Amino acid sequence: MITTSGLTKVYRSRGREVTALDGVDLHVREGEVFGVIGQSGAGKSSLIRCVNLLERPTSGTVTVAGRDLTALAGRGPRAGRELRQARSRIGMVFQHFNLLSSRTVRDNVELPLEILGASGRERSRRALELLDLVGLADKAGAYPAQLSGGQKQRVGIARALAGDPKVLLSDEATSALDPETTRSILQLLRDLNRQLGLTVLLITHEMDVVKSICDSAALMEKGRIVESGTVSELLATPGSQLAAALFPVGGDATGEDRTVVDVTFHGEAATQPVISQLARTYNIDISILGAAIDTVGGLQVGRMRIELPGRYEDNVVPIGFLREQGLQIDVVDGGDHAADAPADRALLVKEGAK
Ligand SMILES: Nc1ncnc2c1ncn2[C@@H]1O[C@H](COP(=O)(O)OP(=O)(O)OP(=O)(O)O)[C@@H](O)[C@H]1O
Ligand SMILES: [Mg+2]
Repeated sequence: MITTSGLTKVYRSRGREVTALDGVDLHVREGEVFGVIGQSGAGKSSLIRCVNLLERPTSGTVTVAGRDLTALAGRGPRAGRELRQARSRIGMVFQHFNLLSSRTVRDNVELPLEILGASGRERSRRALELLDLVGLADKAGAYPAQLSGGQKQRVGIARALAGDPKVLLSDEATSALDPETTRSILQLLRDLNRQLGLTVLLITHEMDVVKSICDSAALMEKGRIVESGTVSELLATPGSQLAAALFPVGGDATGEDRTVVDVTFHGEAATQPVISQLARTYNIDISILGAAIDTVGGLQVGRMRIELPGRYEDNVVPIGFLREQGLQIDVVDGGDHAADAPADRALLVKEGAK
């Protein structure tokens, strides 16, 4: 539904150049909620603004719903009209709501319809319908100043839906809200995604947002996407930073010469019998350092962090046994000091991937 390839954005101001996007290849499938997470300055907002061409990419292409938007930008009045039309099919929700304070709630929602040239009656019918959809039918005549933050964001969402978009872009839509309101807004986005088949691309710096509503996620660092995939793909990727952040289990090795392993299972599978079987078969003492079961991206996932005596090389066979049981194994610490060096650690993770 949304594809960017080789997307680059270089800002030039006062003789200085900042590369905000450095060759971003993103693919968001139709009907999914896709979260992009990253630290401040990673380029998240630049990415979302380039996706709807609010910002002109320096190079690369953006395709939304089969239209190459980059090909339309700056190509004369006819292409300009087509671009505006294509853009009206992309809704955008902002962190600070961006409502007009002098207009009522209903008039704020009507604004994009005015721009699209809808008749007065059509605008008002549609605005009331959308306000009903976001649970604000009784606030149509209120002014933004009379609303709570959560209500303002609902108006922002209703306005974003006015052009009947196929795609909704959200830049930190819940960052200005308290946790309870955040949950209700995320739930609303999820419901809209399901009811209207809306594709949602959302930007956030909060892992909880990704965890509660995203089907897929990408991690951005310094203008690049360093990891991306469906939540279940990420959870199945050894060494994935996103998976570790989405589903953390604590616990450090209790001493030297110990191997620490994360065992992940999905759905009904349970680790308990496997762990005791492992202890019996190989006659080793296994300590459980941490364990959790959680719902991540709608999937039931369990993870257990266990410690085996000896270094990784001493545990190749028991670890192989765990893999044979169909469990996903991530070697966190191989008990070898040399393995703490970055190069060796990367090797270790690769070893774990086999
Ligand atoms: N209009 C601009 N002119 C110059 N530099 C900019 C502009 N907008 C963003 N930048 C720079 O581009 C980089 C990426 O910024 P961007 O706003 O995309 O990051 P972000 O990931 O959204 O951060 P945050 O989480 O703080 O919102 C930063 O170094 C920023 O200073
Ligand atoms: Mg930003």
